[in-house]
Amino acid sequence: MNARQTLKCAILLGAAAIATAHVTAVKAQTAASSQAPLSDAAVRARANALLAKMTPEEKAGQLTQYFNFLPPGQPNPAVDELTAGRVGSLLFVSDAAEIDRLQRIAVEKTRLKIPVLFGFDVIHGFKTIMPVPIAVAASFDPKVAEDGQRVASSEARAIGLHWTFAPMVDIARDQRWGRIVEGAGEDPYLGSIMAAAQVRGFQGPNIGAPGHIIAGPKHFAGYGAALGGRDYDEVNLSDSELWNVYLPPFKAAVDAGAGNIMSAYMGLNGNPASGNSWLLTDVLRKAWGFKGFVVTDAGAAYDLKTHEYAKDVQDAAVHALSAGVDLEMSVDPSRAAYKTIPEALKTGKLTTKQVDDAVRRVLEAKIRMGLFEKPYVDQAEAARVLADPAHRLVSRQAAERTFVLLRNAGGLLPLDKNGIRSVAVIGPLADSARDTVGPWVFRQDDSETITILAGIKAKLGSGVSVEYAPGVSTPERLYASMFDAMSPVKTVKVDDNAEIARSVAIANKSDVTVLVLGEPQNMIGEGASRASLDLPGHQQQLLEAVLATGKPVIVLLMNARPLDLKEAQPNALMNIWYPGSQGGAAVANVLFGDVAPGGKLPFSWVRSIGQLPLPYSHLTSHQPQNAGKRYSDQPSTPLYPFGYGLSYSTFSFSNLKVSQPSVRLGESVDVTVDVKNTGSRTADEVAQLYIHQRYGSSARPVRELKGFQRITLAPGQTRTVSFTLKPQDLTYWSSAKRAFVQDETTFDLYAGGDSTASLAATFTVGK
Ligand code: BGC
Repeated sequence: MNARQTLKCAILLGAAAIATAHVTAVKAQTAASSQAPLSDAAVRARANALLAKMTPEEKAGQLTQYFNFLPPGQPNPAVDELTAGRVGSLLFVSDAAEIDRLQRIAVEKTRLKIPVLFGFDVIHGFKTIMPVPIAVAASFDPKVAEDGQRVASSEARAIGLHWTFAPMVDIARDQRWGRIVEGAGEDPYLGSIMAAAQVRGFQGPNIGAPGHIIAGPKHFAGYGAALGGRDYDEVNLSDSELWNVYLPPFKAAVDAGAGNIMSAYMGLNGNPASGNSWLLTDVLRKAWGFKGFVVTDAGAAYDLKTHEYAKDVQDAAVHALSAGVDLEMSVDPSRAAYKTIPEALKTGKLTTKQVDDAVRRVLEAKIRMGLFEKPYVDQAEAARVLADPAHRLVSRQAAERTFVLLRNAGGLLPLDKNGIRSVAVIGPLADSARDTVGPWVFRQDDSETITILAGIKAKLGSGVSVEYAPGVSTPERLYASMFDAMSPVKTVKVDDNAEIARSVAIANKSDVTVLVLGEPQNMIGEGASRASLDLPGHQQQLLEAVLATGKPVIVLLMNARPLDLKEAQPNALMNIWYPGSQGGAAVANVLFGDVAPGGKLPFSWVRSIGQLPLPYSHLTSHQPQNAGKRYSDQPSTPLYPFGYGLSYSTFSFSNLKVSQPSVRLGESVDVTVDVKNTGSRTADEVAQLYIHQRYGSSARPVRELKGFQRITLAPGQTRTVSFTLKPQDLTYWSSAKRAFVQDETTFDLYAGGDSTASLAATFTVGK
């Protein structure tokens, strides 16, 4: 564990202590003013009036955010700074009473009485936990993303939070990278749709809308392309990849009105992202017109020195602020680069205008959030919001839409709950509440979490025997997770050989076995990259032993990256991700056919780790006829392609039609396709539209997703799905022209249920 991680551990531990100390003292955030939002000019005038009164130290304070990690009553440097009027924002306080107490210090004890902005990682829920973001992407349904984040923001706002460090919109094409769980996977189009939906869910109609919080898309930019998938490692991306793949979800989030952006930790093409003025000023502010405030990732301004980029701490602050970082997220006051701002002003390394512009943006966020009118927490409102049963329904229905059925030999699924007498539920994750909700969860209600075992039991009632065995011990990491302290893991420890033998015996006497395998939640997320895609621990042995019984086996994978099951072929295989608080209920509904699965893979499922990265959207390159044979020892195609997922029904696509065979540059193209449910039950299909540009200023990928719609069809029903390809869908960054271009060219279109769809059409674009 490095120094930053050790410190973060301490932070998390402290936050946990606060949480425990105040568990009964939940207070609520009074909703911000429900009046119409203030005009930009009014907000600016108020911010300027405050700015005029501020000393350089107070300005530097407004630009500083600290983790607050110590329980009340203990000596606390962050609270000392707060009391001295030198803190603009705090993070990692997630208890209503503590938020209220700290806010009263800012508002009642400091000279200018400027309230604190409270931020937190509300990634996929606060108390009611939604499926992890990669799962939500697999729903191919932006409403799932928007509704989930609306619920999350209502809970967070009620307890006094104002801002989330989410959504994470980093594209991830190397699935060794643990943070793939926080994003939407490999595709910029899907990533952009999900990014915008989450911003809408978090923020509502405007910044400051009651029950909503500020969204902070992160990590700007390129973080997902870490070398070797190793978290925090450097990133080297061509301008084509940046503009066409990694930046679009950020642009979509900015266009959706995100009030904040978080700068990334790592170096991008040789320059740390948090000191990168090309990213933070030229792209974000000048090209995209971003008007909100920028925060660094934790300690990333101070880290400009660690990165061997800045000469000293003051130089780090100058680099970060000059590049476009407004607020420094600081690990603690002993490592705060922005404390040196007053000195940098004196020596002329920073100008008053630079500092004032940054402070104004932070103050404007506070004004828009209504903090000056209603800084405190309303306890009754918090209790009401956190207990709202509607939130659980949103979580369960979201989970049901995210599962991806990868295999269903002989139509084993759905199971007939009236036809079976006994079910074996086996696996170390099958009854783990903590793993069911997934990573980036700190304030969940475990008693509300439904594990897979609990969900199956509840569904079947007492008439069916459900026997459970963990099967093997919970797999453990080689290096401890920095989050384990804050978010304790309950592990199962058994004698693996004996337990496998017991599991085989249980499977043998059961009608069907549900094996819940995968990665414990601390094997995915920040600082949780893996150098292997194997099932961790002894789960592969368990799987093979249970399969050897010859009895029907359903494998449910709890994961966020493809896992390599080797030669093992369970009858049914379904990816359930980390399904959230209601995960077990959702799984049971899908297993027993009350709901048909309709999720699709948001990444290519590789055959083995050696294939990584393997995006579906790659260039044609040399010898395309051999594209599937680029290795001599195994196919270079994925095991399951991007966009893939089975259903309990079957679908056919026909009549792919383009409104006009040729259009002019700048014109839109309407596309329609008929989708028919050819099976015998009502189910969902995701109609997907891909384009391929045949020639142009630069070579373009073999396929690019440019439209999708998830629809429900009754047996025999046909629906015509319409898409509009706008000029911007046919425009891309050409590295040859060093500009966005729309070419005169011919496009192939493909429509179907995954990225290998064969139904094709063409159109041309001319002058
Ligand atoms: C992560 C961010 C997170 C921040 C605050 C950092 O280590 O990279 O994604 O928002 O910590 O918890």
